[in-house]
Amino acid sequence: MKHLLDISDLTATELSELLDLAESFAETQTRSVRTVPALRNKTVVLAFFEDSTRTRTSFDVAARRLSAQVVNFSAGASSLSKGESLRDTIETISAMGVDGIVVRHKSSGVPAQVTRWTDAAVINAGDGWHQHPTQALLDCFVARRYWGSLDGRHIAICGDVAHSRVASSNMAAFSALGAKVTVVAPATLLPPVLPPGIEVAYDLDEVIDDVDACYLLRIQKERLSEVLLPSDAEFRQRFGLTTDRARRLRSDALIMHPGPMNRGVEIDPEVADDPRSGITEQVAAGIPVRMAVLYSALGVGQFGRSPRTKENP
Ligand code: CP
Repeated sequence: MKHLLDISDLTATELSELLDLAESFAETQTRSVRTVPALRNKTVVLAFFEDSTRTRTSFDVAARRLSAQVVNFSAGASSLSKGESLRDTIETISAMGVDGIVVRHKSSGVPAQVTRWTDAAVINAGDGWHQHPTQALLDCFVARRYWGSLDGRHIAICGDVAHSRVASSNMAAFSALGAKVTVVAPATLLPPVLPPGIEVAYDLDEVIDDVDACYLLRIQKERLSEVLLPSDAEFRQRFGLTTDRARRLRSDALIMHPGPMNRGVEIDPEVADDPRSGITEQVAAGIPVRMAVLYSALGVGQFGRSPRTKENP
């Protein structure tokens, strides 16, 4: 499997191996020369059909730190505006002999569809409500560094769970690595079916004293087709990590958010900058984690197996 489309395609062992590989790339980022030749002569296209700051930038930096050539494809400046189809666009990019295509799209399932139109490795950089596998990996990377292991830890994922690809990816990845996950949301922002083992709370106060990590999600207003909440203020009152609730969080708890944040709604401004916040570490982890993903896809040609060495043939 050379594509990374859905975090659930990886076993717990494969997830751990990928995180180990990310750790070895993190070590390269402490050197004075941070670029390694692992993907020299490879070409990666960043095909983002939806806006992004963190994911696009960190895939770009990660690919360059692996010595790959990077092409930034901008949907708004492409021939899509002249009526070209997505399929023709991908086949055109593919005909130029690219090795990897990193795809973000507002519609679920597009990265999987793209694999049918190209021989390049396809990496899902977020598709609709469906999946954001590299976000889940970098969050596991940060949590594993913080605790040593996720096994037995209790993580609350709070906010708009129904419309969040981060929630679906992270529920799967955190659980696979042994954490207990509770989703916290109003009934209107919960999916109709949750994966086995995921617990539910309808108020952040139910779990705030108990959890090892509080993972906040913004309300995905661009994906809401109807009014599912009375107001941002009411959401903050019941589901926001306010300064008062943050005082109740354990002193060694981890505060996480995938970004972009809406300060003052799901997280109070000063809580985002609390010493327990791992939000900056999450952004930083995007580089080694995406280096590991690109290397697995383009260098090794598959996920879930560490690079072969003399010691590990
Ligand atoms: N976390 C995340 O996907 O952020 P961007 O939309 O800025 O890439």
